[in-house]
Amino acid sequence: MKTNLKNILKLSFITLIVLSKTFSFATEVLFSPSKNIEIKLQLIDKKLYYQAKFNNEKIINNSLLGLVFQENDSLVNFKSMKIEKSEYRGSWEPVWGQSDKIVENYNEISLLVNELNGSRQLKVVFRAYDDGFAFRYKFYDNDKIVNLMEELSQFNFSKNNNCWWIWADYNTLEKLYFNTKIAKAPHVAAPFTMQTPKGNFISVYEAAIDKYSSMTILQNEKEKTNFRVNLVRWSDGVAVRVLDSLISPWRAVQLSPNAGGLMESSLVLNLNEPAKEQDYSWIKPINYIGIWWEMHLGVSEWKLENNRHGATTENTKRYIDFAAKNGIDGVLIEGWNTGWEDWGKPDAFDFVTPYPDFDIYEITKYAKSKNIEIIGHHETGGDIVSYEKNLDRAFKFYNNLGIKYVKTGYAGPVNPPTEHHHGQYMVEHYNKVMRKAMEYNIILDVHEPIIPSGLARTYPNLMTFEGVRGMEWNAWSDGNPPSHTCILPFTRALAGPMDYTPGIFDIKLEKFKDKRVKWNDLDRGESSVHSTISNQIALMIILYSPMQMASDMIENYENHPAFEFIKNMPTTWNETKVLDAKIGEYVVVARRNNKKWYIAGITNEKARKINLNFDFLKDSKEYKFSLCSDGKKSHYEKRPHLYNITNGTISSNSKMQIRMAKGGGFIMIVEE
Ligand code: NOJ
Ligand code: CA
Repeated sequence: MKTNLKNILKLSFITLIVLSKTFSFATEVLFSPSKNIEIKLQLIDKKLYYQAKFNNEKIINNSLLGLVFQENDSLVNFKSMKIEKSEYRGSWEPVWGQSDKIVENYNEISLLVNELNGSRQLKVVFRAYDDGFAFRYKFYDNDKIVNLMEELSQFNFSKNNNCWWIWADYNTLEKLYFNTKIAKAPHVAAPFTMQTPKGNFISVYEAAIDKYSSMTILQNEKEKTNFRVNLVRWSDGVAVRVLDSLISPWRAVQLSPNAGGLMESSLVLNLNEPAKEQDYSWIKPINYIGIWWEMHLGVSEWKLENNRHGATTENTKRYIDFAAKNGIDGVLIEGWNTGWEDWGKPDAFDFVTPYPDFDIYEITKYAKSKNIEIIGHHETGGDIVSYEKNLDRAFKFYNNLGIKYVKTGYAGPVNPPTEHHHGQYMVEHYNKVMRKAMEYNIILDVHEPIIPSGLARTYPNLMTFEGVRGMEWNAWSDGNPPSHTCILPFTRALAGPMDYTPGIFDIKLEKFKDKRVKWNDLDRGESSVHSTISNQIALMIILYSPMQMASDMIENYENHPAFEFIKNMPTTWNETKVLDAKIGEYVVVARRNNKKWYIAGITNEKARKINLNFDFLKDSKEYKFSLCSDGKKSHYEKRPHLYNITNGTISSNSKMQIRMAKGGGFIMIVEE
C-alpha cells in the first residue's frame, strides 16, 4: 500500500570527535547539541552520580550509578575516571514510522571508572539529545559468567511531580492508569511520565533491551521522590546472567516543554542500532480487519468443539472479500489451528495443523488472488518451551504459504513456570523470535510482549505490540474509560507502536447480543466500549501502529457511511504534528501521508471545543476536507452512535472550531 518511504536506511552525515582525558577526581558536564539539556557527572566520596537540568530547570538531583554483583561485590566505589567525548550529527529514514526522516543528533560522554579496591573498570555511557538523555553500563569480564544482582541507577526527581502511572507487574502491562504526585507512586512500570511544577514533561523508559531483564521503577521508601531501577529477576534471584559482556539497556529520560513533544520524539529509536543494510521492501505497513472481535464478544469461539467456530473457510472468505472491496490490506485469522481446546496444557499448539473446517491452502490462494495479506496467528498460551521447539517449523509453514504477517500471543503464565513474563528469560525469547522471524521474512505483531524498547529500528520486521490494556477489555470487563486513550500516547506509546485494535462501531455491543456466550470471568454482562464512533476512528490515527486494525465485525461496517474514513487509511507517515494535547484530557494530531493529511482528536469524559488552524498546510492552495465528528447529542454512554459527516474546502489560513462530545472525537481527511 501507500508507502513512499525509502526502504534502504541511510545516514546523512556524521561528525565524530573523540577527546580523552583522565581524572582522579572529577566533575564533568555534558550538554545536548542545542544546550537545552545539561547533565553533570560527578565522583563524590568515591561514588558516581549524575544530575540533570532541562531548559534551566533542575529536574533530577544527584542520582547514584553502579552495579551489584553479589553481597560484598559491587561496582559502586571508584577511585578515578577517564573521559571520552564524541558528537554525532545525522539523520536516517525508517522503513515505516510517524515521519519519513528522523534527526539523530547527540553528544556523548563515556566514563571509564576504576573501582576503588580492585582493578575492574566500569564503562558508563551518557548521551544527550535535544529531546532527552540516556545512559547505559558496559562491563566486561573475559570468559566469565557475570551474575548481576542489582542495578543501582537512580532517578532522584527534584520535585514531587504530577505523574501518570500503572502499577509495576512482572507479568503484564494491561492496566489502567493513575494520575497522582510521584510520592504516591510506589512502584511503577515504564514508561513513567510526569510533569514538573514548572510545566516540563519527563518520561523515563528503557531502550534496546537485549540479553538483560526489563526494569520496573521503584520508589525509595524514605525519600519518596527518589526512584531506582528494579530488575525483574530469574527464579534463582539473579537479575541478569550473561557470559563476559554485560551491556545494559539505555536508561532513557525523555524531556519536552509540552506534552505533544513527547509524542513527536524519536528518542527510543535513536538509542537503538541502525538496521543492517539489506532489502526491506517486503516490510510493508498495513491496515487490517480480522476474525477476532467475534470471539472476544463470545459470538463465536477459537476452538471447534462447540460448533461455534469463528475461523472457518467460509467466514474467512467473507472477510477477504470485504477487505478487497473496502480498501483494507489484510485479514487476521485467530483460532484456525488446533490446540485451543487444550489451552493451558503443555504442547497444546503445534502451530501448523488447521481445524478440519479451515482450508488454509484454499484461503491463502484466495487471499492472494484478491491481493489481501493474511495475518497468521501464533498463540503460545505462554508455553515458551513448546513454542521454541516449534518455532522454525511454524515460521517455515507460514513462509511457504506466502503469509508474511504473524501475530504472536503469550496469554497465560510462562512455561517454565518459574520465570516471569518480563524477566531475562522472556527478553531472550522475544528477541529470538524477532531474529528468527527476520530470517523467514516474517513481520511481527507481538501481544503480551515485553515493553517495546525501539529494537524495531534494528529489526524493522518487529512491527507492532500490544502490551497495553487494549480494546479486548471492553468486550469482557468493565472496560477502559475515555481518559485511558488520552493517557496512552504519552505513556505506553512512547516505547513503541501499539496494537490497541480500535475502530468498534457497535459501541454498545448490541447487534449480536443474542448470540453472545459468556466465556471470561471478568464479564458482568454489562460490557460496552466507552466512546463515540468518531472517537473510535480517531484512535486509529492517534494511537500509532504500522499494523492498524479496524477491529469490529464486518457486519458492523457494511454500508456504514463512517467506514469511508477507514478505507485506505495509511499506517505510515511522512510527518506527524501534535496540534494540541493535555495528558488524560484530550489529544489532537495531524499526520501526513503523501498529499493527504489525517487530523484526529479525542477527548476524555468531558465535552470540549477545539480550535483548529491549518497553517501546517503551508501553501495557499485550496484543499478538500471531509470530517466525521460527534453529533450535537452524542455521548459516549448514552448516544455513542451519533455522528455527522461534513465536506467542504479549506486553505492554510482557515480556522475551524470542532466540538467533541463526552468520550468523543473527530477525524478529518484533507487533500488537494
Ligand atoms: C490475547 C490477545 O491480546 C488477543 O488479541 C487474542 O485474541 C487472545 N489473546 C487470544 O490469542
Ligand atoms: Ca492481551
